[in-house]
Amino acid sequence: MLVKSIKEMRGIVKQWGKEGLSVGYVPTMGALHEGHQSLIERAALENDRVVVSVFVNPTQFGPNEDFDAYPRDIEKDCALCEKLGVHAVFSPDAQELYFPNRSTTVHVSALTDVLCGSKRPGHFDGVCLVVAKFFNILQPERAYFGQKDAQQVAVVKRMVRDLNFDLEIVACPIVRELDGLAKSSRNVYLSPQEREAALVLNRSLEIAKSALDHGERNASVLKAALLSCIVQEPLAEIDYVEIVDSESLQVLKGKITRSILIPIAVYIGKIRLIDNITYEI
Ligand code: PAJ
Repeated sequence: MLVKSIKEMRGIVKQWGKEGLSVGYVPTMGALHEGHQSLIERAALENDRVVVSVFVNPTQFGPNEDFDAYPRDIEKDCALCEKLGVHAVFSPDAQELYFPNRSTTVHVSALTDVLCGSKRPGHFDGVCLVVAKFFNILQPERAYFGQKDAQQVAVVKRMVRDLNFDLEIVACPIVRELDGLAKSSRNVYLSPQEREAALVLNRSLEIAKSALDHGERNASVLKAALLSCIVQEPLAEIDYVEIVDSESLQVLKGKITRSILIPIAVYIGKIRLIDNITYEI
């Protein structure tokens, strides 16, 4: 069922609450693929009711980013949601969600001044604002996020803790194409040649994982291995490659002694792709 009005959506979740039904929530920007599907399936397993929001959030895009070009296909998204047994697809208009004179910001510091946060100024403010608004409207027991956007998971978890939102953030594994490319709504932008070149992201992370499996614990050596793999791909231009603490996201330089996240962002032609692995020491 497609719901556009905030008031109507609130009414529906209130009714579910009265009936004692738990709500699992999957925030998305639409153009749904198997990555989103995995979150929806997990939410359906763990909750009585599932709400998926489809909203291309203007406040999280920078002025030179792809807000206008971002793929939109609400009918296809609704059809998939229906097939997956989603109880409501919530897709409000930006004019209804955002007051023209809104004056509240949600800024999570520290975690957002590295990685995508430093490369996309204001991005996580936009994400936190919209996610906080949806949490307030939907009042879910659980919300499902993909580890594909590892920094987003860390930032949203911190916001939930700091602002006492009464819900659990469930992080779900990255879903990949058969050849290893992480599924993304932005993959549709890639030409066949770029699609091939994009495999370098996963390939470089596999090299790092194998080095870790063989006992490599020096962050600089690992980073050098990742970089030397990516630079071999002529269509790739590195935005960042880091070895960070998986909770604080602080960059690690010397010997690795705790669980790490290796997030990378690489331009393939004009398309910016991200990927990551986590590694438990
Ligand atoms: P979007 O890019 O549509 O992603 C929605 C959710 O799907 C995110 O939690 C993302 O991490 C997850 N996801 C995307 N690709 C995935 C993959 N290959 N495997 C597993 N999960 C994947 O992230 C956003 O939208 C927005 O920032 C949002 C949270 C909706 C706020 O506007």
